[in-house]
Amino acid sequence: MDEAKFLCDSNQLVEGQYVELQIDMDRGPMFMVGTRHRGEPRVWMNSCPHQGRPLNWAPNQFLKDDQGQLVCAAHGAVFEPDAGLCVSGPCRNASLTPVEVRELDGRIQLEPCAPEG
Ligand code: FES
Repeated sequence: MDEAKFLCDSNQLVEGQYVELQIDMDRGPMFMVGTRHRGEPRVWMNSCPHQGRPLNWAPNQFLKDDQGQLVCAAHGAVFEPDAGLCVSGPCRNASLTPVEVRELDGRIQLEPCAPEG
C-alpha cells in the first residue's frame, strides 16, 4: 500500500466508544476496532491476541468495563485504550495490533505503512 486510504470520518471515533471499522485492501477486507483516547484516534486490528477472535459480540457491539476499557467478548480480556495493552484476562500483557492512522480535515486515514489484513 503506497498511499493513505480513507478509513472513516473523524466524528465516528468518540472517547469511550468502540466502533467496528472495515476497509477493502488488495488481499481482502481488513477488520479493525477504533476509538478516541485523550483526543487522539486509536485503531487496532479487530483480533484478540488470546485466540484471534473478533473483540465484538455482534456487529458493531463491543463490551466495556466500568472504566471504559475494551473487553473481549469471548473470554473477557480487558484492553486499555491508549496502547491496546491487555491489563486483565487470559492474554494479560499482550497487545492488540495497532493500525497507524492520521487525522486530517475531519477524516481518518490509514498511514501508507499500515499492515494489510
Ligand atoms: S479470544 Fe479474546 S479473551 Fe479469548
